[in-house]
Amino acid sequence: MTQSVPWTSIWITGASTGIGRELALTLARAGAKVAVSARSREKLDEIAGLAPGVLVVPLDVTDQAATALAFAKIEANIGPLDLVILNAGVWHPMGAASFDAQKSANSMAVNYQGIANALELVMRAMIARGRGHIAMTSSVAGYRGLPQAAAYAPSKAAVISLAETLAPELKKKGITVTVINPGFVDTPMTKVNDFPMPFLMTTAGATQAIIDGLRRKKFEIAFPWQMVVLLKIARVLPYPLYFWFASTFLSPKRKN
Ligand SMILES: NC(=O)c1ccc[n+]([C@@H]2O[C@H](COP(=O)([O-])OP(=O)(O)OC[C@H]3O[C@@H](n4cnc5c(N)ncnc54)[C@H](OP(=O)(O)O)[C@@H]3O)[C@@H](O)[C@H]2O)c1
Repeated sequence: MTQSVPWTSIWITGASTGIGRELALTLARAGAKVAVSARSREKLDEIAGLAPGVLVVPLDVTDQAATALAFAKIEANIGPLDLVILNAGVWHPMGAASFDAQKSANSMAVNYQGIANALELVMRAMIARGRGHIAMTSSVAGYRGLPQAAAYAPSKAAVISLAETLAPELKKKGITVTVINPGFVDTPMTKVNDFPMPFLMTTAGATQAIIDGLRRKKFEIAFPWQMVVLLKIARVLPYPLYFWFASTFLSPKRKN
């Protein structure tokens, strides 16, 4: 039986596939009203057909004006949001030789600015109400610069920094901020990877970890623990040691 959850009205971006989709289905089946956003309307419609209480609100998170309209529509339809999960993301693997400025800009536009576009509206509304919970999906790839993540890692580092910046101020206003830092999760995003992904998790496992952490109002939800421990140690290494560690252990080794 699905356990009930402490939230009434939830908005999830990046909800058409992967982690966002699984979160939306789980939370809706637990009785919450869940607004789902992403660009692929058909995939969102499919989610609405699989669980009760799902509101489909297609959105490109890089479009600030469209985000404002989406937010207004969601609150008009499912009421004041008590949980927002800003989860839309893109992964463009690239290193120095394959560096592409357009892909870099797209990563920042979706992974970072896509969060900021919604945040302005969500924070304003929650501050006025004196309550709410905002979660942003970053990645363990945001802890330090990583080989072949020249677009992704900087965009995810920016999200962690944003969450750290806002959390203490918002706490005083009754609002919880959470940053979600997954390691490898088996989703359409990682299907493109042609290198081994240690400690790969299922979307169901990731969703459970996220919901547990949100219930506990944790600042950081990070998983799987093995990957988190490894990269947190890497985070405090001095540069010469870190560069050796990264090129020896963190450089993707192609499967073929
Ligand atoms: N899978 C992992 O190993 C892993 C690890 C660390 C962090 N993460 C993060 O977890 C989050 C979810 O990723 P996932 O693994 O579940 O990958 P996914 O299945 O590829 O999901 C990405 C979601 O983002 C949406 N999206 C992409 N660009 C968008 C845009 N411009 N506007 C609105 N929505 C957009 C996609 O929907 P549309 O294409 O329909 O717009 C999709 O719903 C991402 O932030 C990702 O960086 C994943």
